[in-house]
Amino acid sequence: MKLVFATNNHHKLKEVQKMLPSSIQLLSLKDICCFEEIEETAMTLEGNATLKANYITEKYGYDCFADDTGLEVTSLNGEPGVLSARYAGEYGNSEKNMEKLLNKLAEKTNRNAQFRTAVAFNIKNEKYLFEGICKGQILKKKSGDGGFGYDPIFRPEGYSKSFADMSFEEKNKISHRGIAIQKLVQFLNSL
Ligand code: IMP
Repeated sequence: MKLVFATNNHHKLKEVQKMLPSSIQLLSLKDICCFEEIEETAMTLEGNATLKANYITEKYGYDCFADDTGLEVTSLNGEPGVLSARYAGEYGNSEKNMEKLLNKLAEKTNRNAQFRTAVAFNIKNEKYLFEGICKGQILKKKSGDGGFGYDPIFRPEGYSKSFADMSFEEKNKISHRGIAIQKLVQFLNSL
């Protein structure tokens, strides 16, 4: 079965491909020659994931899933949330995003946070949503060189190291995206 994962983020593609049964061939946006920017204009993670999945299904005709992730910090009322990718203004500048977050948390004692992923899945004219949550804490400074995004400053609950200190496999087992994709995989296996 061919399935499009509506992303060109090679970190995510690698993470997700490892979790899927070998009978599923994962295609990226580049693989289907979709080079245009898909707008993420919704106010929620679910809304943005749905926008992306629907765009591909409607324009390219593929069964498709799309994800949107946000880091939700308790003492900042859920910030950066749906704005995680452009928290410091410039899209995808992880260094600046982390710096802004660390500055905002400098005086806070509560450093609890969660990553939350919404996955929208379109298959055979049906639409499904899956959610994955990983709870943890924001560290006071960066640790590790693995992963991407906010990984160096996020320590998952029950661990003494950051996501960026973990191997792909270790992170996948407990990560927000890993959990949401596991739900998608279970669903695919039940079809
Ligand atoms: P996206 O919409 O899923 O691409 O994620 C939005 C933002 O959250 C991006 O800027 C990423 O840096 C960040 N992000 C998403 N997933 C992760 C993750 O697994 N670890 C750290 N940061 C992430």
